[in-house]
Amino acid sequence: ALISLRQLLDHAAEHDYGVPAFNVNNLEQVQAIMRAADSCHSPVILQASAGARKYAGEAFLLKLAEAAIASYPHLPVVLHQDHGASPAICLHAIQSGFSSVMMDGSLLEDGKTPASYEYNVEVTRQVVMAAHAVGVSVEGELGVLGSLETGLAGEEDGVGAEGRLDRSQLLTSPEEAVDFVARTGVDALAVAIGTSHGAYKFKRPPTGETLAISRLREIHARLPNTHLVMHGSSSVPQEWLQVINEYGGEIPETYGVPVEEIVKGIRSGVRKVNIDTDLRLAFTGALRRFLGQPEHTAEFDPRKILAAATSAMQTLCRERFEAFGSAGRA
Ligand code: G3H
Ligand code: 13P
Ligand code: NA
Ligand code: ZN
Repeated sequence: ALISLRQLLDHAAEHDYGVPAFNVNNLEQVQAIMRAADSCHSPVILQASAGARKYAGEAFLLKLAEAAIASYPHLPVVLHQDHGASPAICLHAIQSGFSSVMMDGSLLEDGKTPASYEYNVEVTRQVVMAAHAVGVSVEGELGVLGSLETGLAGEEDGVGAEGRLDRSQLLTSPEEAVDFVARTGVDALAVAIGTSHGAYKFKRPPTGETLAISRLREIHARLPNTHLVMHGSSSVPQEWLQVINEYGGEIPETYGVPVEEIVKGIRSGVRKVNIDTDLRLAFTGALRRFLGQPEHTAEFDPRKILAAATSAMQTLCRERFEAFGSAGRA
């Protein structure tokens, strides 16, 4: 059944677990997530970005989510608008049937220019008023996602801030977070702690200097009742990089957010963990390997080819449901 993000994260906080929020763009991703959740009895967060709507078309995305809910009526499902760039986008998503929206006022509507604090408060507050009137939840974001190593947002395909950011933007201030939550009334707060979107998060495995889990603890200490959200939380599995590179790909050395670090975050109030890149890597690795295997050189049925990718994504989703503790909670 469709539930709001607030309902799910309140339950997660009560029982000390986190929920992976997977980005979806197509049938195979939706099926992989739902099959994994069904196999380990986990609640689900399906999230769609502006890029997903552009790729699949809004109607297809909505009908895929509807089909997921109808096919697994026993599983709680949140349908979340990821990175809404304006109140208008969030209101549209609410009308379309999303049960949760993210108003990302950390950037201006262009999705590139860091916004002022007052702008962020104002747009987020507006969305919360409209959303709460109809039982929809709101996630806000305070701080700008980007690498503490380079000061760059890091995303290769244009998601995130342009130009160089300074440390005060890259780490959410606990004092400001208290004021932001009080003034906006958000249900969940995305924070900046050194993660960034995409596969190129860290040049070396992250340390306390580049991934500030300690900052989460400080924010959680001041806001014990606010559900925290980690964006840019793909782990970038080295095994999948190896498979991709073994079968003709060329992905340079890169590291993501280790699952153990996310688990530490969950102990410090993180309830929603955004993951897109890991599904992309598993999909691409499984596809390259399948097509590259000598026994498949004559294969041309998309169903067989895509089944390999779906099954790889399903395994990855189940690992995250289990590690974050949402398995067994549905
Ligand atoms: O926000 C970042 C997510 O990975 C979505 O990426 O805009 O390419 O769909 P996308
Ligand atoms: P990744 O690129 O690390 O998967 O992060 C996705 C995300 O934060 C979507 O909002
Ligand atoms: Na989001
Ligand atoms: Zn994000």
